[in-house]
Amino acid sequence: MSTMNLVLHVWRQPAADKPGKFERYEVKGVSEHQSFLEMLDLLNERLVEQGIEPVAFDSDCREGICGTCGVVIDGRPHGPQRATTTCQLHMRHFKDGDELTIEPWRAKAFPVIRDLVVDRGALDRIIQSGGYISIRAGSAPEANGLPVSKECADLAMDAAACIGCGACVASCPNASAMLFTSAKIGHLNNLPQGEAEAAGRVRSMVIQMEAEGFGHCTNHLECEAACPKQISTDFIAQMNRQLFGSMLGAKKAVTARNTGSK
Ligand code: SF4
Ligand code: FES
Repeated sequence: MSTMNLVLHVWRQPAADKPGKFERYEVKGVSEHQSFLEMLDLLNERLVEQGIEPVAFDSDCREGICGTCGVVIDGRPHGPQRATTTCQLHMRHFKDGDELTIEPWRAKAFPVIRDLVVDRGALDRIIQSGGYISIRAGSAPEANGLPVSKECADLAMDAAACIGCGACVASCPNASAMLFTSAKIGHLNNLPQGEAEAAGRVRSMVIQMEAEGFGHCTNHLECEAACPKQISTDFIAQMNRQLFGSMLGAKKAVTARNTGSK
């Protein structure tokens, strides 16, 4: 088993209201089979042995499905491997002697809590504003009671793959959350169950996204490149079309009310 020695420049920040800076650490004997987070675990074990505060970072499933992990490695959210979360990134993609810079997601809407941990509550509030369906769930319905076309089912499943990690925001020069928001909208609005509330959903989720301080999309497409689930920016185009349609519908209704016409 080959091992490697690395030099890490890790962002250390004790609290949101305290200044942060990069600290240099040497990590020796890293196995190529370790994940990036296991390498950070190793660093932390050694820091604790030396009486130094361990580096705070987020993780949960460590299987690429929960969206909890995520750090910027050498300027790239989730690191150099395409379609891979930080927890699924393995050290075999690095080499002995590498010098790596590790930072938290950088965005105004994601304040740093500590070291590499940021507050992604803004994404939760976008979902709370419309990422649900208001129907009585009851018991499991008859599977064929509501036909869903293959095309719609595939689109909804592609959008539902979003794990809410926030790498799209961290990669965007505008810190835009449009890929995330459009995936959450696309997941529901492409299904018949989500159709009744589709117009209101797109309006309120986009309004919440703007209220949280995320920037606008100017087609850099960095989000799509950084996304570990390869969510397509086609969902942003779909969201924009639905938003335009919904605003047009609302305008027509107001005009009809004002003129007394039907
Ligand atoms: S769209 Fe991709 S990068 Fe953005 S939150 Fe979802 S999974 Fe993460
Ligand atoms: S820890 Fe769950 S996706 Fe990485």
